[in-house]
Amino acid sequence: MVLCRGRAGPQTLLPLIRDIAQVAPFRFMTTRRGGRMAAAMTSAGACGWISDHRGYRYESTDPETGKPWPAMPDAFRALARDTAAEAGFPDFDPDTCLLNRYAPGAGMGLHRDGDERDFAAPIVSVSLGLPAVFLVGGLEKAERARPVPLQSGDVLVFGGPARLLFHGVRPVKPGADPVFGPFRYNLTFRRAR
Ligand code: SIN
Ligand code: FE2
Repeated sequence: MVLCRGRAGPQTLLPLIRDIAQVAPFRFMTTRRGGRMAAAMTSAGACGWISDHRGYRYESTDPETGKPWPAMPDAFRALARDTAAEAGFPDFDPDTCLLNRYAPGAGMGLHRDGDERDFAAPIVSVSLGLPAVFLVGGLEKAERARPVPLQSGDVLVFGGPARLLFHGVRPVKPGADPVFGPFRYNLTFRRAR
């Protein structure tokens, strides 16, 4: 796992996130068992990640609006590609960006990103807004997770042997970020299809 501190520019990304959310609003998805996810989500790109009573998957249209997901902004793609290349993945070409919005108290349980077709492509994960503690576990869920504090602008790349590591996010603490206010955002770039 490669951590590039301060690699992303929060000021540049804020209006792009706003534009995406205007077309495909952040929403709380449900799990197969009917639970509500703690982070609000939306997507940009050729497909978007969905969770509902049928489980997890990628879809080409937003079920909330019936329209295609908004296009991935060029600046998003460039950031993901350039950072992946720096981390040793020069061929990364994401087809989706999952956007997570965490209010204080929201976190994400240990999981691995396993809904993509090809695990040869890395995941590029951009943290924005309020700080958070990212948890990096092992290849088994039972392995103890190591806490990694993340600040606004930090970018994590996990690929190769790290691609299927369990990971999660501790509940975000209340605060006020100069750019993003009372939220943490995370952009996760993937090659899903
Ligand atoms: C995720 O694993 O999908 C989100 C990670 C994060 O919010 O940092
Ligand atoms: Fe994840």
